[in-house]
Amino acid sequence: MSRYEDYDWIEEDFSRKDRKLRRARRVRGGHRPKKSARQQIDEIAEPTPTEGEFTISYSPARHEKVWLLQSLQPFFDEDLLTDVQALVKGGKEANVYRCEGQVSTQRSLIAAKVYRPRMFRNLRNDKVYREGRGLLTEEGRTVKTNDHRIMRAVGKKTAFGQQIAHTSWLMYEYNTLKQLYEAGAAVPQPYAVDKNAILMQYIGDEHGAAPTLHEIELDDDEAQPLFQEVLRNIELMLRHSLIHGDLSAYNILYWEGTITLIDFPQVTKPQSNRNAYRIFERDVQRVCAYFARLGVQSDPDGLVRQLWEQYTDPDLPELDDEA
Ligand SMILES: Nc1ncnc2c1ncn2[C@@H]1O[C@H](COP(=O)(O)OP(=O)(O)O)[C@@H](O)[C@H]1O
Ligand SMILES: [Mg+2]
Repeated sequence: MSRYEDYDWIEEDFSRKDRKLRRARRVRGGHRPKKSARQQIDEIAEPTPTEGEFTISYSPARHEKVWLLQSLQPFFDEDLLTDVQALVKGGKEANVYRCEGQVSTQRSLIAAKVYRPRMFRNLRNDKVYREGRGLLTEEGRTVKTNDHRIMRAVGKKTAFGQQIAHTSWLMYEYNTLKQLYEAGAAVPQPYAVDKNAILMQYIGDEHGAAPTLHEIELDDDEAQPLFQEVLRNIELMLRHSLIHGDLSAYNILYWEGTITLIDFPQVTKPQSNRNAYRIFERDVQRVCAYFARLGVQSDPDGLVRQLWEQYTDPDLPELDDEA
């Protein structure tokens, strides 16, 4: 039996619930449903944990409840998580929650990035990034291109294929976090991954999560050293043949004088993607533009050229081919 068989629960679950939700929403005046749409949605949204119940302090909205609880269930089963305390932010493709749990033997705050189910019905236009990337399995390994069942499903965008693509997308984020964290980059430490969610180091405290650079005004004396720190990370990534691909003040957190880069699912490689230079250039330009507004002078074009020449020599061996 293929190990992909167990994607079926999520595929069936979400599509069934979605169909029901859509049907519930479609109820209009004139036709009187036996139950109100609200009652129907309430019923549908009732979670049905399979391996033991768990309760959380956070009260999710009805539409959020099913996928939140189902996505985090495996971590509760493994006692990695003990509570979901609050929604940190609903991002473009995922919600991030402040959770409580056990890391090593220590109780601590944990960030859970839960990918939206919408993601695998309507994947972001990720073609530009996907070029030259294999598909990653739930275990983080590359799918063999001669695995026809999977390649066909992905090509035809069946629900199963979309789930594979969805998991691949978040496995890239997890693998990248792991690789970069180990290499000394300023990224959250990743703790665990499952089909639909990633657990990682929470940046912030019990009162609130770290803001993004976009949300704050840096002090004058902080801007220059933090710009250097972002560049150190850009360079470190390129040294490992990685380009963030969506780097901007929206994906850099600030906490107590330090920055943390986040949001890596679209990470791409210089050697295997024809758009890599353009993607890299955009990352660097956005960062330079943000810091230029704070008075930090730089030469983005020069920086891009210099880093590219230094680290993407086709004759140089790749440092790590994992991500
Ligand atoms: N490890 C973390 N600690 C604290 N807050 C985080 C963490 N990761 C993400 N966030 C918050 O959640 C938001 C969404 O996360 P992000 O990874 O950028 O996903 P998206 O693809 O939805 O933008 C971020 O803008 C940030 O405010
Ligand atoms: Mg983001």
